[in-house]
Amino acid sequence: MVSRVIRTIRRCGLPFLLPLACGAASTHAQTQTIDNARALQNYMLNCMGCHSPTGAGVAGKIPPLRHSLGYFMHLPQGREFAVRVPGASNSALNDSELAEVVNWLLMSYNREELPADFHPYTAEEVARLRRPALAEVAQRRAYLVELLHQQGIAAMKPSY
Ligand code: HEC
Repeated sequence: MVSRVIRTIRRCGLPFLLPLACGAASTHAQTQTIDNARALQNYMLNCMGCHSPTGAGVAGKIPPLRHSLGYFMHLPQGREFAVRVPGASNSALNDSELAEVVNWLLMSYNREELPADFHPYTAEEVARLRRPALAEVAQRRAYLVELLHQQGIAAMKPSY
């Protein structure tokens, strides 16, 4: 009984907080295609409360997810970073849903920032990268921004 509850929490985050999101989570197939309506709904339920409805973030507190996140896709470590930040890593979204939300953010709001050879996340990639959640987020971010600047991507802002 106890182990079943723990398994459920592992799979679904805290299902008693988000029973609907979790119920939907386990049923649909793992897929790389983006269902915009579903991605938006999952964003609203799991990310928007902090990152704001438009993904603009909150100055000095929450980084934007539009016209910024795409730069991280120029680095393999950046792909990892984007799904290992605690808000993404620990979300109630399953791997397939998290892949979809991040792909949706990238394709809808970061097109100009993406590398030419960008390929969307798969559920498998997210499963491989998302855990454990990052502990030293600010340090890791500063390091990645430095790498991006070294690659000539000067538009990536160190602070938000
Ligand atoms: C409880 C508030 C909160 C929620 C909910 C949240 N985030 Fe975040 N997110 C943050 C904060 C704060 C940061 C800055 C790094 C840190 O301190 O974790 C961040 C950073 C990020 C970053 C790194 C961006 C950058 O430029 O450094 C990404 C990507 C991200 N979040 C994605 C998501 C996604 C996707 C979701 C929903 C599945 C989500 N977050 C839910 C608060 C949140």
